[in-house]
Amino acid sequence: MNERDTRQLLCELAFSLFARGFSVGSAGNISARLTDGYLMTPTNSNLGRLEPSRLSKLDADFHHVGGDKPSKEVFMHRAFYRARADVGAVVHLHSTQATAVSCLPDVDQGNPIPPLTPYFVMRVGRHMPIIRYYRPGDPAMEPAIHAAAHDARAVLLANHGPVVSGKTLTDAVHAAEELEEAAKLFLMLRNQSPRLLDSDQVDDLLRTFS
Ligand code: 13P
Repeated sequence: MNERDTRQLLCELAFSLFARGFSVGSAGNISARLTDGYLMTPTNSNLGRLEPSRLSKLDADFHHVGGDKPSKEVFMHRAFYRARADVGAVVHLHSTQATAVSCLPDVDQGNPIPPLTPYFVMRVGRHMPIIRYYRPGDPAMEPAIHAAAHDARAVLLANHGPVVSGKTLTDAVHAAEELEEAAKLFLMLRNQSPRLLDSDQVDDLLRTFS
């Protein structure tokens, strides 16, 4: 997809996420890989009101080369792009249910949400660790996310929210949506003993759809 179409799609997907309550105020940021660098949402922008021509442009070394000042979370996104060549887009949200899970100290910090549904496994994968708390915009979070991103398509930042990667912008947004739904199911079922997908079923999903 060319840069003009990527700018347009990023703004449309961001608007859709905002309109459905996945982001409020100026929370969240989205980026996409281009052939010559990256597009990123500007800092303090509202995902419902982005303008394609004002998106931040970064070069291949993540230096700001055009548009408005980029998100303070460039490091967070860079961690995913540098970990895996197949990452084409990254979405960071403060979506309520996933963020709620990120605040729970008594869940498995290595993989808090179990395989409840096929689409969570297909979009987010087998592992999604919680990364310990860092202040928003703290570059110190980059090595921790980078280490996890080698075999995780998404992470939960403790007391902050999800960071989700995808091959394309659409993939990353779909994965962020599935993660939010899975977090909701997990919280609904937390005090029950739900049937989980077993490891053969998870393997089958990943073999068939990845
Ligand atoms: P930016 O406005 O700088 O993108 O930061 C928003 C955010 O979600 C911080 O985590």
